[in-house]
Amino acid sequence: MSHLRCSVAGCATTLDLHDRALACPRCGELLEVVIDSPSGDASHLKRLWLGRRSSFDPRDASGVWRFREFLPLDYGAENTITLSEGNTPVVRGQKTAEWAGVRDLWFKHLGWNPTGSFKDLGMTAGMTEAKFAGATTVACASTGNTAASLAAYAARARVTGRVYLPAGQASNNKLAQALDFGAEVVEIEGSFDDALNQLLASKDPELYFLNSINPFRVEGQKTAMFELLERFDWRVPDYLVVPGGNLGNSSAFGKALEELKRFGFIERVPQIVIVQAAGANPLARMWEAGAKEITPVAKPETVATAIRIGNPRSWRKALHAVELSGGFVMDVTDEEIGEAKAMIGRDGIGCEPASATTLAGIRKLRAAGKLDRDVWIVAVLTGHALKDTDYISKQHERTKRELALAH
Ligand code: F0G
Repeated sequence: MSHLRCSVAGCATTLDLHDRALACPRCGELLEVVIDSPSGDASHLKRLWLGRRSSFDPRDASGVWRFREFLPLDYGAENTITLSEGNTPVVRGQKTAEWAGVRDLWFKHLGWNPTGSFKDLGMTAGMTEAKFAGATTVACASTGNTAASLAAYAARARVTGRVYLPAGQASNNKLAQALDFGAEVVEIEGSFDDALNQLLASKDPELYFLNSINPFRVEGQKTAMFELLERFDWRVPDYLVVPGGNLGNSSAFGKALEELKRFGFIERVPQIVIVQAAGANPLARMWEAGAKEITPVAKPETVATAIRIGNPRSWRKALHAVELSGGFVMDVTDEEIGEAKAMIGRDGIGCEPASATTLAGIRKLRAAGKLDRDVWIVAVLTGHALKDTDYISKQHERTKRELALAH
């Protein structure tokens, strides 16, 4: 049976799968799910997963539950809280590839999920477990996307959703989603880190926590890698480029790739490149300095509000993912993010600012001669263009002004 284990190799404390602890009772580090070896060999499961695409079972219509052999538990069709998340396409970069100076660039667009971000992949898993555990109120701190996703899935699960947002810092579009789906919104003075601290400090036993420190969330987010690799008939790209905020997503991708390799589904893993915003870059700084611990950024600042995070909780797991893949961590400025975001828009794809760190990073690496023109790159876009329309309007006001000045 799958179980929980401390994510620090030297500790290895184990807990029952349904224990609600969010941290190791011995060392305080994050927990992770240990998956049993899946029943069936790789070629059988690859065929089974593909076959499920023509099934109307609600679990099979989900790009998460279709891969349930790698999730901790199958709760049954009746008890699975799903909005048919996942099933997102991989789109080839055209103008973006030319702009960045690479030949073989693809975008896995997780922004094309039910609430417009990758959070839905984790939320279906976390909310299904929350409901199974008898939760009546679920909560998260968020820069906006987790809040929107939690709100929708809480509504489907018929439980109360409560979201803690840094006041005035989440985009209006994300806030509107949380309200539309009927969540209770608590605005906290300060940053995302303050909101998360405040939530974790509230020892209310009624609350079920659904931040990405919840190991079930991570399990759902893993499946983006299954979809991606299935799409390429299980061939593995050279690079996987991912934006980094609280670092749950890069942790989930690393875990997925590690498990797929361990159980014989792939022979190697892509190099994972995490890109942070320069004003919210504790992992990139640590990487650059060759340090062993992160130093939190006290006042994180970036236009990419989704990743305005100074003290990422999952940094150890994400670092493990980078190291196991032979990858690296870097950062890009707000200006570089803005240019890359506009270019993704011009390519007919669109994304929110945080997602554009990926393309900005790729261009920067190429310009510095650190990336070969012919490598195969997949960049993960995490949020939809409509997630931050104020940003787009402001950016285009500026462009219009500049054009007017140029005449
Ligand atoms: N991209 C988007 C669009 C996000 O919303 C987030 C995180 C990230 C990237 C970074 O992912 O935290 O797993 O490294 N958003 C969280 C939220 C923090 O509350 O919506 P990460």
